Amino acid sequence: MKNYIKIDEWNIIEEGFNPHYQKNSESLFSLGNGRFGQRANFEETYSGETMLGNYVAGVYYPDKTRVGWWKNGYPEYFAKVLNATNWIGIKIKVDVEELDLAKAAISDFKRILHMKEGYLERSFVATLKNKISLKVNATRFLSIADDEIAAIKYSVTLLKGNGELSISNQLDGDVSNQDSNYDEKFWTEIQKEANQNEAYLTLETKKTLFQTTTGIKVEITKDGVLNNSEFTVHKNDKFLALNTNLSVKEGEEIIIYKYAAIISSMNYANADLVNAAKNAIKRASNKGFDKLLQDQSQAWVKKWKESDIIIEGDVAAQQGIRFNIFQLNQTYTGEDERLNIGPKGFTGEKYGGSTYWDTEAYCLPFYLSTADEKVAKNLLIYRYKHLEKAIENAQKLGFSNGAALYPMVTMNGEECHNEWEITFEEIHRNGAVAFAIFNYIRYTDDAQYLADYGLEVLVAIARFWAQRVNWSEDKKQYVMLGITGPNEYENNVNNNWYTNYLASWCLNYAAEAVDYVKLNHAEKYQKIVAKNNFKEVSELQKWSHITNNFFLPEDKKLGIYLQQDGYLDKEQTLVSELSMEARPLNQKWSWDRILRSCFIKQADVLQGIYFFEDKFDEETIKRNYDFYEPRTVHESSLSPCVHAILAAKLGDEKRAYDFYLRTSRLDLDDYNNDTEDGCHTTSMAGTWLAVIEGFGGMRVRNGQLSFNPFIPEKWEAFSFKIRFRGSLLNIKVHKEGVYIENLSVKELTVNVFGINHQLEGFEKKEIALEKVDQLN
Ligand code: BGC
Repeated sequence: MKNYIKIDEWNIIEEGFNPHYQKNSESLFSLGNGRFGQRANFEETYSGETMLGNYVAGVYYPDKTRVGWWKNGYPEYFAKVLNATNWIGIKIKVDVEELDLAKAAISDFKRILHMKEGYLERSFVATLKNKISLKVNATRFLSIADDEIAAIKYSVTLLKGNGELSISNQLDGDVSNQDSNYDEKFWTEIQKEANQNEAYLTLETKKTLFQTTTGIKVEITKDGVLNNSEFTVHKNDKFLALNTNLSVKEGEEIIIYKYAAIISSMNYANADLVNAAKNAIKRASNKGFDKLLQDQSQAWVKKWKESDIIIEGDVAAQQGIRFNIFQLNQTYTGEDERLNIGPKGFTGEKYGGSTYWDTEAYCLPFYLSTADEKVAKNLLIYRYKHLEKAIENAQKLGFSNGAALYPMVTMNGEECHNEWEITFEEIHRNGAVAFAIFNYIRYTDDAQYLADYGLEVLVAIARFWAQRVNWSEDKKQYVMLGITGPNEYENNVNNNWYTNYLASWCLNYAAEAVDYVKLNHAEKYQKIVAKNNFKEVSELQKWSHITNNFFLPEDKKLGIYLQQDGYLDKEQTLVSELSMEARPLNQKWSWDRILRSCFIKQADVLQGIYFFEDKFDEETIKRNYDFYEPRTVHESSLSPCVHAILAAKLGDEKRAYDFYLRTSRLDLDDYNNDTEDGCHTTSMAGTWLAVIEGFGGMRVRNGQLSFNPFIPEKWEAFSFKIRFRGSLLNIKVHKEGVYIENLSVKELTVNVFGINHQLEGFEKKEIALEKVDQLN
C-alpha cells in the first residue's frame, strides 16, 4: 500500500518527486480520450525506471504465443495493445547539459491530474550538474472535444544566470512493448516528413497492417511573444525531431506549445492518413492551446454533469469514486462499436488484449446509467460482430452446429488466451455475454435488440452449453465437467455451481428470446432461423430437457450452493486464520497449494447470486454470503464490489463500506502493489456499482427503477445521476431521507423503500427519514 497521493475532492495530487513511485504515478496520472491514451511519462528525458506507454484504441499486434507445452486448441497468437509512437518528447538541454529528472536535483515537484477539466499538470525546479536551475511547468491533455487532437504547453524559465537552451521536439516510433514475447519490435516505417515546425510520422504494424500517422506542430514563445525559431530536422528510422536553440536570459519564460494529431487506419484509408493528421494539426493550432483547453474543460463538465457521484463528508471516498469515473470515461466513450474496455484501459500493457468478461459483467451497467443508450448498445454490438469468430473458436475445440464460445481475451473476436485451465475451462464468460443482453434489455426496454442482434448470439451460446454438458447416468442429471469458475484458484473442477446455474439460465433465456422474436418479429425470426439453420422444435426440446435436469451442487445441511462437487472435501480454513505473511496467496504460495486450498480468489457462487439476486430469498443469500466471504481472499480487483453490494443488501453497512473503500482507492493507494503495471480500469466500474447498487440499493424491477438506499455512517450525503429510458434522475441520499429530482420532461415512477413515487417532468420529491424508518 502507498499513501502519497494527497486527498482532494477533484484532483489527484503528488507532491515531491520519489523515483520509486514513478511507474505507479505514470499509471495513476494516465490520460485518455477513448481513441488514444497514454501513461504519464515525462516529456523530457528520464533515465530512471519508467514504462513508456502510448496506445491507439483498436490497434494491436498478434504476438506469437509463447507457452511451455503446446496444447491443441491454443490460439497461435496473443493480440496485444500496442505501444505506439511517443509524441510527447520535449528534450531540453541547457548549455549542453541534459534535463533528466533521474540525474538533476529536484525540488518543488508537483503533479496534478485535474479530473474536473481533464488535464495533467506538472511543475518542478531542477538544478542540473552545471548548477543551472530551471523551473518547468508542463500541461497536457488529450482532447475529448476533438478526439484526434492532443496538446502540451511546456514552460521553462531559467532561475539563475543566462543559458543556451536546446529544445528537441520528438516523434519517436522506435518503441517496443515490454511484454513482447520474442523481443520483437512491432512497427515498420511507412513515411515521414517534416516542414518548418511540423512533422508527420506514419508507421505500420507488422502482420495486422494497421497504420498510424502521428503529427506534431511546435510553436515557441519567449516572454509571451511568438519566437520565429528555425528548426533543424533530425531524422532516424521511425524517428523525427524538430530541434532548435535559444539564448535565454534569467527569468525569461520560454513556452513550447506542441500540438499533436493521432490518426489511425481504424478511421481513415491509408492514403488519407497524413492529410487527416495535417487537418487535425491545423484545427488544433488555429484554435490555440488555451481555447483547446477550454473546449476540453467544457466537454468534461458535460461528462461530469451526468456521471458524477458527489459524496459529502468524506473527501477520500469522494476522490476515489471520481478517479474511477474519470478513468472509465477516459477509456471508453462508446462512439465506436469496434472498441472495448481493456482491464488496464490506456494505462499499461498488462492483460494484453482488450476485452474480457469484465466488460459485460462489470462495466455495462456504468455506461447504461451514465451515457446515451447507444454507448451500452455498442458494447453489445461489439460481441454481435464477433459472433462468427466465436463460432469458429468453438469449432476449433470440437463443437459444432453453430455453437459459439466467446474468447476469454480478444481484440478482434479471436481467442488470445493460452492457459488451458482458463482458455478451455473458464467458459462462464459465454454466460456473461448473454447476461449483458438480458441486462441491457431489462434496463432500456429495447427488446427490438433481440430481433436485430441478440437472438443470434443467444442461440449460438445456448448451442454451446447444450453440447458442453453431458448426461450423467449416475446422477440421472446433466453435469458440466472440467471447469474453472470465476474463482481461478480452482481449476478443472466438476459442476462449478456458478457456471452450471448460468448455463441453465442462458438456455432458458435463449428459449424465451426465441418465443419473443417469433411472436413479435415474425419475418426477422424466419431469417434468423434460415441463416442459423435453427431447428426450433428439437433444439428447444433439448434445451428444456437440460434446464429441467441440470445438476446444481448444494449442501442441504449447510444450506449453501456448492462452489463445485469436491469443495467440501477441502480442508476448511478461513482467511482470518491466514497469516499476513501468506498474503497475497498468489505471490506467496505455490500454485499447487492454492489449488488444493479452499481459498477463493473472487466472487464465484456469490457472483451468481449477485446476477440473479431476485431468484433467491434473503436467508439463502445470507447463508451463502456468510459461508463464502470468509473464504475469499479478494485477490482479483473484481471481487470486493460484488461483496459490497451483497453486504449492503444484507444490511451489513460496515462491511459494505469497507469493501467499497477497498475498490474505490485500489489504485490511488496501490492496495495490491501492482498499480505500476496500470490501473484496474474494469474494476473501476465495480466501484461505481458498489455505490449505486450497494449504498443506493438501485435495481431495475418490473421495468422500474427502485432504490433501497442507506448512507455510510461517515458520509453526510451522497448523490448521483441516473439515466433511465429517456429520463434523467438526480438522487440524493442524506441523513434525513432521500431526495429525488426528475431532471427531464418525461414523467416516471420510481420505487423507494418499496413504495412507488410518480414524478412528473422536473418534479422533485423528498422522502423523509420518518417514513424510511417506518418502512424499515
Ligand atoms: C480475474 C478475471 C478477470 C481478469 C481481467 C483476473 O485476475 O480473475 O476474472 O477477467 O483478471 O480483469
